[in-house]
Amino acid sequence: MSAAPLLEVRGLRKHFPLRSGVLQRTHAWVRAVDGVSFDVYPAETLGIVGESGCGKSTLARLILRLIEPDAGSVRFAGEDVRGASADRMKRLRRDMQLVFQDPHASLNPRLTIEDAVAFSLLVHGTSRAEARERARALLGRVGLEARLYGRRYPHELSGGQRQRVNIARALVLDPRLLVLDEPASALDKSVQAQVLNLLADLKAERALTYVFISHDLNVIEYVSSRVLVMYLGEIVETGTADALAQAPKHPYTQALFASAPSLDPDRRLERPPLSGDPPNPIDPPSGCRFRTRCAFAMPRCAETPPALRAVGEAHDVACYLYEREAIVGAPTGCTHSGPGGDSDLRGGQSNEDGTRRDLRESRAGHGTRAPCG
Ligand SMILES: Nc1ncnc2c1ncn2[C@@H]1O[C@H](COP(=O)(O)OP(=O)(O)O)[C@@H](O)[C@H]1O
Ligand code: SF4
Ligand SMILES: [Mg+2]
Repeated sequence: MSAAPLLEVRGLRKHFPLRSGVLQRTHAWVRAVDGVSFDVYPAETLGIVGESGCGKSTLARLILRLIEPDAGSVRFAGEDVRGASADRMKRLRRDMQLVFQDPHASLNPRLTIEDAVAFSLLVHGTSRAEARERARALLGRVGLEARLYGRRYPHELSGGQRQRVNIARALVLDPRLLVLDEPASALDKSVQAQVLNLLADLKAERALTYVFISHDLNVIEYVSSRVLVMYLGEIVETGTADALAQAPKHPYTQALFASAPSLDPDRRLERPPLSGDPPNPIDPPSGCRFRTRCAFAMPRCAETPPALRAVGEAHDVACYLYEREAIVGAPTGCTHSGPGGDSDLRGGQSNEDGTRRDLRESRAGHGTRAPCG
């Protein structure tokens, strides 16, 4: 491992109580995030993908300590986020910023966008004149020239423009890490591509590290150097974006790829796409949580949850199908003739798009591996 992780997440768990009746008694728990561990390295983009409701936003809020976990820890640059005092937390919040999915809901309708961007600077003690100057410069950088847009209110902007304001707001304190929770999902496809390209440019210019969350595998593949696949509050597979695209191992990851419309002809119809909805996170299936939708489920899959195991360099999977070939650290091709066999899932990347090629070439290439949870 070439560099120390910027972010270390260990055993994070968050169950939400469901209450009912006059006494508001807890009658059930939603197991939103259930023992998640991973590292994020400086300058990489770690993509987190999974269907709606699998716990991605809860994980984002836990990382930034907007909500408290039931168990587990988060360390940022070696510092325990959970144990940080109010003062330290203020400092940590400069370094870690969150961009939400809904660009409208996260902006104060009564603030001009210039004031919205300057706000955090004022809170952190910057003079009014300097805050204004920096806000205007940043608005210009995200494509909203302050002379034209600075005095406008959020409702006077399009969705894409509002998301640009949110990005400027997140960057104004010069953070090191951005957690981007579906930052382009609410936007039209063409606007989505512009916002993703802007984020890629800003990352390179400012030496940022991204945790990029999306339910859309194509977006995740496009932006990420490494990918973490979540299912019902757990990590089921993690690997480089290329490894996952070329040889996804977990039946869920394979189904996600089969379900994601791709321009790449080699990647079509290799596996049946995902059908049905995920089970209720209040009462997830025993053993492997994917077993109720898995075409390869065996009796033992209902008994004990499979642990994440290395199946290649920087490639881990939680599935009994790979138990025999699980390795520690050494690079290998998977020889399984079932869903993970390399031969039946040679995806290949369509690198016809220059931007995409640039993104891929700039990947950090860390030999990272999320530890078993
Ligand atoms: N405050 C909350 N109270 C109860 N349940 C919640 C709360 N926040 C999220 N959940 C539930 O936790 C699960 C994960 O939600 P979320 O993290 O928003 O998933 P995602 O972002 O992947 O769509 C969902 O079942 C959701 O309904
Ligand atoms: S552990 Fe069993 S049920 Fe789960 S994904 Fe693997 S084969 Fe399917
Ligand atoms: Mg979400």
